[in-house]
Amino acid sequence: MGLHTRVCDMLGIGVPILLAGMGRASTPELAAAVSNAGGLGVIGAASCGPNQLRSWIRRTRALTDRPFGVDTLLPASVRRGEKPSNTGGPTAAEMLPQHRRFAADFMAKEGLEAVDAATFDRVMDRDPADRDGPAPLSREFFEAQMEVVIEERVPLYAAGLGSPAPWMDRLKANGTVVMCVVGTTRHARQVVESGIDLIVAQGHDGGGHNSPIGTMALIPQVVDAVQGRIPVLGAGGITDGRGVAAALMLGAEGAWIGTAFLATQESGISAAQKQALVDGKDEGTTVSRSVTGKPARMVKNRWAAAYAEAAIEPLPMPYQGMVSSQVTAAATAAGRADVWGGFAGQGLGMIHGVRPAASVLEGIVAGAERELARAGALLRRG
Ligand SMILES: Cc1cc2nc3c(=O)[nH]c(=O)nc-3n(C[C@H](O)[C@H](O)[C@H](O)COP(=O)(O)O)c2cc1C
Repeated sequence: MGLHTRVCDMLGIGVPILLAGMGRASTPELAAAVSNAGGLGVIGAASCGPNQLRSWIRRTRALTDRPFGVDTLLPASVRRGEKPSNTGGPTAAEMLPQHRRFAADFMAKEGLEAVDAATFDRVMDRDPADRDGPAPLSREFFEAQMEVVIEERVPLYAAGLGSPAPWMDRLKANGTVVMCVVGTTRHARQVVESGIDLIVAQGHDGGGHNSPIGTMALIPQVVDAVQGRIPVLGAGGITDGRGVAAALMLGAEGAWIGTAFLATQESGISAAQKQALVDGKDEGTTVSRSVTGKPARMVKNRWAAAYAEAAIEPLPMPYQGMVSSQVTAAATAAGRADVWGGFAGQGLGMIHGVRPAASVLEGIVAGAERELARAGALLRRG
């Protein structure tokens, strides 16, 4: 008896486990490894410019003939430098120099050198052809990415934030399976109406952009909200087979897993960041707006701590990313995971080493099957 749900039939995969799209970390190599092992790998393209995204999609296709996906962000609110509502204060664009000065002072204190464009390209995996394109995480950037997703006819598209509704007809015409990651039932109801095929309920425990609601409470409420119309995948803190079994018990039909696949040979994060994951414990993460401007869960780090200590409000997306990317690139180039350890979920303490992705997937599936069998044995006659 093996793990199998309708998600397997819908996607043409062996087990209902999807590698979560994790910006830069879910590389073509990692996605292909998960797809080749029987799950479905989703490349984390949130920060890929259009040229980079096209080459990542093509590289994934060269590494696997199994289904795979692409994840980008489509946030409903991305400021264009307008005044924050009703405050009459300076615009985000006007506040940018002040935050850049804060970053420069922080880097000087940490002994970090600013990186040049070529180093930035190398450590942030940016195609030089994208240097002069739209600013990362801006509306124009997201729109340029969607054109590539559509032109390349990817098997699955995942919207990590927001709604793919404006692109739905073109995605569906290509036969692309469309998925959304949500953190509330309100968002779930909204995106189901737009005709998506799959939904991920990602709770507060998860790495990256973050819901205010814990995974345990969120999954069954999203399951109830979508009323069986489409399958729900559980996410957030699911790091081994026990978590997958629990998500299935809560009504999910599969799992979307990030952090457990970060400490793998194929993931795109640095060796220092992988070691920080192995060393990390249950209390090793924090939620901060200091990286993208939206609340995100990350390994505790000196950059987020500096914002918290200074009690400065980070700028809204996309401005905060323009400030933080210089710091995260410099820290990554210098191997300083204490300054920037990357996004990660609360399952951190369950990671004990860096392994091949296929072995992580096999362990998760075997663990889930074992736990589901054990759960059945908990029932007693009479
Ligand atoms: C390093 C990292 C990067 C992430 N980047 C993205 C991203 O670019 N787009 C996105 O939709 N979600 C992103 N996420 C969230 C994941 O897609 C997923 O929802 C989350 O990892 C699930 O929780 P877990 O990490 O506890 O498994 C990221 C998560 C991590 C850990």
